[in-house]
Amino acid sequence: VETASVDFTFHPNSNPMPEADRLKAFENLGFGTLFSDHMAVIRWSMDRGWHGAEITARAPFPVDPASAVLHYAQEIFEGMKAYRSAEGKAVLFRPEENARRFNESARRMSMPELPEDLFLQAVEKLVQADAKWIPTGEGSLYLRPFMFASEAFLGVRPAREYIFCVIASPVGPYFKGGAKPVTIWATAKYTRAAPGGTGAAKCGGNYAASLVAQAEAQAQGCDQVVFLDAAEHKWVEELGGMNVFFVMDDGSLVTPPLGGTILPGITRNSLITLARDEGLTVHERPYSFEDWKADAESGKVKEAFACGTAAVVAGIGTVKFPGGEFKINGGETGEVTLKLREKLVSIQRGQSNDQHNWVQAI
Ligand code: PLP
Ligand code: COI
Repeated sequence: VETASVDFTFHPNSNPMPEADRLKAFENLGFGTLFSDHMAVIRWSMDRGWHGAEITARAPFPVDPASAVLHYAQEIFEGMKAYRSAEGKAVLFRPEENARRFNESARRMSMPELPEDLFLQAVEKLVQADAKWIPTGEGSLYLRPFMFASEAFLGVRPAREYIFCVIASPVGPYFKGGAKPVTIWATAKYTRAAPGGTGAAKCGGNYAASLVAQAEAQAQGCDQVVFLDAAEHKWVEELGGMNVFFVMDDGSLVTPPLGGTILPGITRNSLITLARDEGLTVHERPYSFEDWKADAESGKVKEAFACGTAAVVAGIGTVKFPGGEFKINGGETGEVTLKLREKLVSIQRGQSNDQHNWVQAI
């Protein structure tokens, strides 16, 4: 079906959170527990295409018990942030990259593609409606676009009805330790994604499958799990919700290549560009866990860090694995990591020269 032009209707929330309560909540922001007043919704059906776009009060969806998403997990999502720039404007970071990746995920999960301009309009209109929900200072407004199969039907085939929605959550640091380096748990017991699987798609099922490994990491006193490849249990792939980089003693950076089993992170891509701007060499190449361990012990790997929208850039201080552990840079966040983090954050917040035109004021 051709999607006719879609106009958003605006139904303001008649019962928004009082300003004093919102400002109080801003004083102690965690991740993903507080939500703004509105949401964006667009519906899709086989016969009507995309329709019914609205910005409306954030509220539960009535879900039929036979909704396909509840049975066969046809669901995808994105993660992006709105920041308040130095001049007080709301800014987005590379939002068109999220729109593009969303459709790559949709194709992998046999879901309808959402025209990129509709994705961007939904995000922008929600941020405009809830601009006062962008915290000042260190915080940001985390935006969660997602789509799920809402058709009530138990046959196994792509659903014929979907709901696309964007919600917004003011957030502080993803890790409870704030800027402290994180501790990572490496295990070959669980894998995240196999060749031909859904690893490169941002679908809920990938995260469902990662939870047992993440819980094991937490039981081991770690913040995140690092997954190894499914075929050989040898190559470092990515963390549960972040990509990973290594800083070598010759000043070069190494990050695992995109081969269909890891998420093509927008932060990862941005950091590769920023590092190359600085004259650093970046190798996208396989790196084995055994090499990581040996190189950490010999000093050949100087730093390691995790990166993603939620986590930004977080130094990896300690790596634990069944039977041992090793530290990187004495357990501290390294200089190159800090410098890249600073460079990225100042662009995202509209505080420095945005050479690549990544930041969009709305
Ligand atoms: N890898 C996984 C599994 C993720 O969930 C995320 C977070 O979105 C990333 C990597 C980083 O992607 P991005 O930098 O686009 O947020
Ligand atoms: C993000 O960074 O946007 C993610 O989706 C990762 C998740 C761990 C919150």
